[in-house]
Amino acid sequence: MRTFLLAAIIMVVAIPIKARSQAQPPPRPARLGLCAACHGETGHAVLPGAPNLAGQQLAYLRDALSQYRDGRRDVPVMRAAIGPLNRAELDALARWYSAQAAPPQEHP
Ligand code: HEC
Repeated sequence: MRTFLLAAIIMVVAIPIKARSQAQPPPRPARLGLCAACHGETGHAVLPGAPNLAGQQLAYLRDALSQYRDGRRDVPVMRAAIGPLNRAELDALARWYSAQAAPPQEHP
């Protein structure tokens, strides 16, 4: 009986913690349209030569964007695309793309 009670208590306490720790899907960024023409709305690239962003590590995406911004990555098309966006907008886009399901792996 004690074990059962203990298990019940653990479940009651643990379930909400688990639910909360599962990342909420980020809200759809207002500026998504600026990126979707090349990277797709869900990060599956639609333009040949544009990388897939879906499921990419958040830290990596943030880092890549700051590199385009400060010129360490000197790619005119990306520099132009993020030019008008502020930090918060870029961060929202990075979180959005990172939370999308990665495309299935291709096996040769
Ligand atoms: C006109 C097409 C185009 C648009 C619009 C565009 N991108 Fe890109 N993006 C590219 C291309 C091409 C690359 C690859 C550049 C390179 O070689 O570094 C790229 C690279 C990236 C990368 C680096 C990915 C990696 O794997 O290193 C990120 C992150 C990114 N884009 C985010 C964005 C975001 C966010 C927007 C919208 C604000 C956006 N892009 C708009 C074409 C585009």
